[in-house]
Amino acid sequence: MLIDRHNREVNYLRLSVTDKCNLRCSYCMPENMKFVPRKELLTYEEMIRISRLLVNEGVTKIRITGGEPYIRKDFMSFLSALSELPKLEKIAITTNGVSTLPHLEETISLGVNSFNLSLDSLDRERFLQITRRDALDQVMACLHEMLRYNLDIRLNCVVMQDRNIDDIIPMVELAKDQNISVRFIEEMPFNGHGEYYPNLVWNHQKILDHITEKYPDIEKLNDPPYSTSKNYRINGFAGSFGIIAAYTRTFCGSCNRIRITPEGTFKTCLYDQGIFNLKTFMRQGATDEQIITAIKEALAHKAVNGKMAESNRSKNVFESMSTIGG
Ligand code: 5AD
Ligand code: SF4
Repeated sequence: MLIDRHNREVNYLRLSVTDKCNLRCSYCMPENMKFVPRKELLTYEEMIRISRLLVNEGVTKIRITGGEPYIRKDFMSFLSALSELPKLEKIAITTNGVSTLPHLEETISLGVNSFNLSLDSLDRERFLQITRRDALDQVMACLHEMLRYNLDIRLNCVVMQDRNIDDIIPMVELAKDQNISVRFIEEMPFNGHGEYYPNLVWNHQKILDHITEKYPDIEKLNDPPYSTSKNYRINGFAGSFGIIAAYTRTFCGSCNRIRITPEGTFKTCLYDQGIFNLKTFMRQGATDEQIITAIKEALAHKAVNGKMAESNRSKNVFESMSTIGG
């Protein structure tokens, strides 16, 4: 079992398989994003090796993120290999839905039934403004197809002042007739150019107040263990909505996760600057034992929460969310 410095069990890996993306969400990356050269990326073989080691140490859930996972070459073969790890209980995927549809059936046939779909606006023009690509129709087609299956579907909506506030209520209303969870995320500073709001206006409380104003009849749901979202159901709705205080960081106490970036940086927190590079270590010939020892050593120093991890950084945040992996 993997235990961190604060005696928390680590059972959840977030693995970013590529920093490339077919959208350019302004809160995530600049239009002229410089992507990691191919030889600097972990190979699929390296990712499977690390995943196998971590699963043997008690990791039960792996979330595949990006960038956009489905645009990396041979992604489906990787997913197939990952799904064969015997003790891995759950694979979840975060996708923007733009080019997911042709692979959906095969993904589900591999036993994946949990999807986070990024969707920040239901309005074509606003979607274009936010993502810099005119791809709302593809995303909605993907969502509609997903709804035909019995899947655990969460929509991720980053809430941004002056950009998509008018979408909050229509997004909530997607859960009226469908059993999906619509999650509103505080904007974080990972936009790839280090510029961000000095104060977050749309924090978790303001988002909740905004929804409650329209729908006062709201029930607080029990949040699943390790949940980063606070979840609610509006009376009469089939689905639910959640609010993720990603910037305020109210949920770090129950953190169970580690992250690996596309270039192999091992992170014990979204807000740390990376502890060591697994790719370099493996390519120098590290044994399985040495890899696990290095990971345990990193966890023995894990910051108690995201605020501490951020204050321990030697530099300001200039990363893109696509290189960290959601
Ligand atoms: N702030 C908050 N959430 C973000 N995401 C990406 N960048 C940011 C950011 N700067 C979210 C998107 C996507 C997930 C991978 O991370 O909603 O669904
Ligand atoms: Fe791509 Fe996701 Fe970043 Fe948008 S937020 S540019 S969909 S990786």
